[in-house]
Amino acid sequence: MMFYFSGAGNSYAVAKQIAESIKDEQIIPLARFEDLKQCEKAERIGLVFSCYDGNAPDIVLDFKNKLFNLIDKKNIYVFAVITA
Ligand SMILES: Cc1cc2nc3c(=O)[nH]c(=O)nc-3n(C[C@H](O)[C@H](O)[C@H](O)COP(=O)(O)O)c2cc1C
Repeated sequence: MMFYFSGAGNSYAVAKQIAESIKDEQIIPLARFEDLKQCEKAERIGLVFSCYDGNAPDIVLDFKNKLFNLIDKKNIYVFAVITA
């Protein structure tokens, strides 16, 4: 599963391109995702977002912290792509 956070659509476009090239990947808007428990079943989790003031946006950092707490020690591949 791949999550994106995108204000103007740049990160969305990148997420869409990646999803098309690594087939079977669904892209999910981070801002509207509520069921974090779903992530436990994933083999691979992607985060695509833009750089805000030299960092990730707060919503992404918050999600990342919750995600890492949930999947701690599970064998799940996590990757991030940052647009700037
Ligand atoms: C509040 C804000 C802060 C930003 N800070 C940076 C930054 O520190 N470095 C950078 O390279 N781009 C920065 N940008 C530009 C965005 O990262 C860039 O336009 C990105 O492609 C936007 O992606 P999106 O359309 O998916 O939101 C910033 C944009 C915004 C709105």
